[in-house]
Amino acid sequence: MPQDDNFAHRPWLDPDKDPFIKIRSVSKRFGDFTAVDNVDLDIYKGELFCLLGGSGCGKSTLLRMLAGFETPSSGELFIDGEKINDIPAYARPVNMMFQSYALFPHMTVEKNIAYGLQRDGVAKAEIKDRVSDMIKLVQLNDLAKRKPNQLSGGQCQRVALARALIKQPKVLLLDEPLAALDKRLREQTQYELMNLQDQLGITFVVVTHDQEEAMTLSTRIAVMDKGKFVQTGTPTEIYETPDSRFVANFIGSANIFQGHVVESDRDRVVVRSVRDDNLLFYIDHGSDLQVNAKVWVAIRPEKVRISTTPHAEARSNQLAGIVHDIGYLGRLSNYKIKLDNGKMIDVTHPNQTRPKSGEHLADWDEKVYLSWEPSSAVVLTQ
Ligand SMILES: Nc1ncnc2c1ncn2[C@@H]1O[C@H](COP(=O)(O)OP(=O)(O)O)[C@@H](O)[C@H]1O
Ligand SMILES: [Mg+2]
Repeated sequence: MPQDDNFAHRPWLDPDKDPFIKIRSVSKRFGDFTAVDNVDLDIYKGELFCLLGGSGCGKSTLLRMLAGFETPSSGELFIDGEKINDIPAYARPVNMMFQSYALFPHMTVEKNIAYGLQRDGVAKAEIKDRVSDMIKLVQLNDLAKRKPNQLSGGQCQRVALARALIKQPKVLLLDEPLAALDKRLREQTQYELMNLQDQLGITFVVVTHDQEEAMTLSTRIAVMDKGKFVQTGTPTEIYETPDSRFVANFIGSANIFQGHVVESDRDRVVVRSVRDDNLLFYIDHGSDLQVNAKVWVAIRPEKVRISTTPHAEARSNQLAGIVHDIGYLGRLSNYKIKLDNGKMIDVTHPNQTRPKSGEHLADWDEKVYLSWEPSSAVVLTQ
């Protein structure tokens, strides 16, 4: 059935599939502080699932509960159909890669990777084979005899990854796996991590505070704030249809207008913003919102067209302002446009042609017109 094919890469849509990891009403309190607040989550086999949120929102605590390093104050955790609450960390079918890597400084790469198998009493010949396979997999062939202080940050990261993978866990938990790497290496390593996960088919749960990283890596993302999940979905769902101002601003940036619904149909919503010169927003997807409901309209900076002449076809979703600031970033330019009421609108414009020196689409203090498609705006109720 073609249906099955659809589900192969999106098992969470398959009503017949059981989640591999189930988190049920899990909380973690430290004294009277609640770090993880009654969360529910399903993660499916083979996913690369990201827990994304700002510092202190409870990501690591949740990961550590899956690993067995913290005990939930309440709630239940399941992996592969088995309740794991009472299983000690070492006996769980998971392994964790720590942010700090925690390599043994006095051991070579090889010995670091072999350590877990040795401790488990695996036969020498088997250890040798598995270590050598793992070294190939993470491309450390020439460095097997070195010690951690003779390796770069990226190489240490791979040793830590190999060490976590060699015990063939069903689930690999990664806490900020790329945070110690510089930007370029981080981007390269993101792709390596995705390839590795794809090859091995192990379920990865990754904690990160970096929204671009989460967008690049994940099958799905749970956005966390103050111990709760505020939205869960694919990177595209979360970026294109955030369901709160918090998510719209946390994942990328958004221009947000407060207003009220003046028309609400099956295929169209019209919002008026009294604060912004009675501007009308036409949004071409329906909602069940009541007329007069207080809402916010969010528009991503890259969905806004900018022009020095009014957009002839756009009778709506158009406004005018003055160029307040221009940031030239090479492949794109960021404009800050000031409206009459003082509100600033962010516009991102791709630089398709190379500008002559000092030349911009619009100049400082110039009057410009902004417009966007009715499909580009999202209506938010919180
Ligand atoms: N062992 C602990 N004792 C007391 N408070 C803790 C402990 N571990 C974490 N916390 C607190 O719980 C909150 C969430 O921490 P953490 O899960 O590490 O956040 P994140 O990984 O999202 O940055 C923080 O406010 C942190 O200070
Ligand atoms: Mg953390």
